[in-house]
Amino acid sequence: MKLKELESCLQQVDVFEDPKILLEQYPTSPHIAAHMLYTIHNTFDDIENKLVADLGCGCGVLSIGSAVLNAGLCVGFDIDQDALEVFKKNKEEFELTNIDMVQSDVCSLELASNTKRYDTVIMNPPFGTKHNKGMDMQFLKTALNMAQSSVYSLHKTSTREHVQKKANDWKVKMEVIAELRYDLPASYKFHKKKSVDIEVDFIRFCVT
Ligand SMILES: C[S@@+](CC[C@H](N)C(=O)[O-])C[C@H]1O[C@@H](n2cnc3c(N)ncnc32)[C@H](O)[C@@H]1O
Repeated sequence: MKLKELESCLQQVDVFEDPKILLEQYPTSPHIAAHMLYTIHNTFDDIENKLVADLGCGCGVLSIGSAVLNAGLCVGFDIDQDALEVFKKNKEEFELTNIDMVQSDVCSLELASNTKRYDTVIMNPPFGTKHNKGMDMQFLKTALNMAQSSVYSLHKTSTREHVQKKANDWKVKMEVIAELRYDLPASYKFHKKKSVDIEVDFIRFCVT
């Protein structure tokens, strides 16, 4: 599938109806999601026929893209029932069978039972800026425990040194694949501008 085709396909994915600020419910734009998934698929061959987990899946843009790119199965995890309702509708509209969802707090996922069960973990985690400091690293630690091969994640560029230090501590190799401008729509009242650009790293963590 071509990148443009993937992007226009992901434009059909419905997003949060009433986003919850404390859960950092910012959807990944179809443009960014398509570029992430296209790279994971074409450069690293980490989607097709793989068992993929999407942590903090929200309404499912990354899960749906993975399923469209022929993941063996993609399982989305999110704490929020309302987001998962939208995920379910999206799944039905796309008529995908290689996709599933679990309502779960990623921080309390039973690590032992998930250990290395997935080939690939993909995520756009909460950045930990809404009274939930360290949430991005909790997601990353869980993802690294779940993945057999690779974890792909977005992190604020301003935290790159910290992320690198953690990766060193955990003896995991990381590579910044791309530096993105993440366009946060003014979906929350405290945003005065129409949208706010933040600099975000798209990172690959190599578990093996
Ligand atoms: C930045 S959004 C990304 C949503 C979606 N993956 C996407 O790319 O559009 C972060 C997601 O993490 C979920 N989330 C926040 N805290 C969570 C937790 N402790 N456990 C599971 N999901 C959580 C939110 O509900 C939200 O859907």
